[in-house]
Amino acid sequence: MKMEKINGVNRDIKVEADLRLSDAAEARIEDLMHRYPCSNSALLPALYIAQEECSWLTDRAIRWVASRLNLPLAHVLEVATFYTMFYKQPVGKYHIQICRTLSCMLCGAKKLTEQVRKRLNLSAGEVSGDGMWSFEEVECLGSCGTAPMVEINDTFFENLTPEKLNDLLNKIEKFKPDLRYSGILEELGKGLEGFPKSSVW
Ligand code: FES
Repeated sequence: MKMEKINGVNRDIKVEADLRLSDAAEARIEDLMHRYPCSNSALLPALYIAQEECSWLTDRAIRWVASRLNLPLAHVLEVATFYTMFYKQPVGKYHIQICRTLSCMLCGAKKLTEQVRKRLNLSAGEVSGDGMWSFEEVECLGSCGTAPMVEINDTFFENLTPEKLNDLLNKIEKFKPDLRYSGILEELGKGLEGFPKSSVW
């Protein structure tokens, strides 16, 4: 354990200089760190880079972020476990987050959850045998005015009914659009035709 002064504060950091992800991830984090006045500000995008690299935030990915940003591991863990968009366990290629907070709940979120559970034959947190699907219920995703809604990877689908959601899942199964991490790459995903980001049905 080594004490280092970060942003004027002494912090105990386990520096793991040999901890590496891919060269591409290393280059992206290098670039990222130059954009912010302090490393803490780069934490959220750095976690996205690590998640993109590993598909979910493995222990190694979290330690890599802490090491590269020189932040205490406990702080990186706190942030990673607070936001549901960071996956703490393996998820499917299409991970469905169903909002269950007030507006969505009043407008039928429970029916969406039942539809997904029945359609995929999965419980929350499980990944389908072919690796395609997983789902979880989450708190407000900030789209209360167009409730009920779900987020699939990076893309919001709003004003849903169980029938619309089922149709959407059928389309995704058929066309397999690239929804994963489309936000951070600023690509709306090849194959997204017919699936505009923040789709209001
Ligand atoms: S309550 Fe569902 S987005 Fe806010």
